[in-house]
Amino acid sequence: MIYPIVKFGNPVLEKPSEPVTVFDDELRRLVEDMFESMYAAHGVGLAAPQIGISKRLAVIDVTFKEDPQAQMVLVNPEIIHTEGKHTQNEGCLSIPEFREPVTRPNKATVRAQDVTGKWFEKTGDDLLARAFLHETDHLHGKLYISHLSILKRDLIKRKIRKLIKAGEW
Ligand code: NI
Repeated sequence: MIYPIVKFGNPVLEKPSEPVTVFDDELRRLVEDMFESMYAAHGVGLAAPQIGISKRLAVIDVTFKEDPQAQMVLVNPEIIHTEGKHTQNEGCLSIPEFREPVTRPNKATVRAQDVTGKWFEKTGDDLLARAFLHETDHLHGKLYISHLSILKRDLIKRKIRKLIKAGEW
């Protein structure tokens, strides 16, 4: 099932998500639906709040279907280590049409559970590190625009408000 993507302005995107405690068929189904929804929206990462579900759950595929091994499920993820710094254009399916340079660590280690509840650690560089950080931020109710200057952030928010008024958001 393909879920519609929740856009900026919906409060679910700006509140912390609840931990996942049950690892059952329903969770597995939700993860499948999240991958399907992410691909349909042409994204490389999707957090559960972005489909209106306030759970600490995200899916990532930085290769966008090229490498089936690259599919990652992060349940209850925490960033436990970061290194370096890198600035790159970043976007978000919940803030479509906007992209801004964001400075983040270029290496990040995430500790998370898989869909069966098993804990694992994984270190990512470059785009994968960015995806770990961006998606984990989502689960804290934090969007990438919070990493921008207040000036830039307000400009984007003003543009979005205009789009909302025009019924184009
Ligand atoms: Ni996002």
